[in-house]
Amino acid sequence: PLVAMTELMRRAKRERFAVGQFNMNNLEFVQAIMEAAELERAPLIFGVSEGALKYMGERYVVALARAAAEGSDIPVVLHLDHGSSFESVMRAIRAGFTSVMFDGSHLPFEENVRLTREIVRVAHAMGVSVEGEIGRIGGVEDDLSVEDEEAQITRPEEAIRFFEETGVDALAISVGTAHGIYKGRPKIRFHVIEAVARAIEAPIVLHGGSGVPEEDVRQAIALGVGKINVNTENQVAMTETIKRIFAEKPDVYDPRKYLGPARDAMREVVRAKMRLFGSSGKA
Ligand code: G3H
Ligand code: ZN
Repeated sequence: PLVAMTELMRRAKRERFAVGQFNMNNLEFVQAIMEAAELERAPLIFGVSEGALKYMGERYVVALARAAAEGSDIPVVLHLDHGSSFESVMRAIRAGFTSVMFDGSHLPFEENVRLTREIVRVAHAMGVSVEGEIGRIGGVEDDLSVEDEEAQITRPEEAIRFFEETGVDALAISVGTAHGIYKGRPKIRFHVIEAVARAIEAPIVLHGGSGVPEEDVRQAIALGVGKINVNTENQVAMTETIKRIFAEKPDVYDPRKYLGPARDAMREVVRAKMRLFGSSGKA
């Protein structure tokens, strides 16, 4: 069924595992992610960025998520990723999203708190969960681009105050990961994760989960990360598979002949993440 992530987040923090947020970009992503969740018996979060929402169309996004979730006993969350305004978040809730992220990380602290708190009040009244963000996560995702100089590691005291004043269900902080493809090994500030996670009830969200070394992922989860976002690795798996097929058979014209294998490749990426995150068997 389609659910909010409230309960899942509490459980993830208590039992020290992380629920994967896998972003949706088209039908094959939805199928690959859902199939992986069923095979792994893992709860899952479909992340939908505003860019993906524009690309797929709101009613297709909601219909696909419902189609995936309703025939299954796996808890599935439909989550707005990096909602950029109060209006965009409200729109997603009205459309049928069960969870929303409001990313006010570029705003002055007080303004981010004020808007996030307001969103939490409305969303919770409607049974919808909320993720907030404090500190800026670097890299590029759709229309959102944060230069290295702008990306800032979250200050623990600020994150703790942000949580206390907003009551979000999950908190994204900036600890050295970035959206997109890493050039080197990301330098994760584990002490920041630890300091924040220990002081708040909600789990920490790790954005930029693609390409993070496995040992770093395990350590982050052990310290209190309860949600990890992955998009780029699936995009790469799809694109690499299609490129390989076209290199081998340039005459292929039936989309199913390359989208099918691309979907299988993504399913395996997602399964591996679910195992790594410890969410396999938690549904
Ligand atoms: O919000 C989405 C994720 O943070 C995407 O991260 O580019 O490393 O897959 P990624
Ligand atoms: Zn993100």
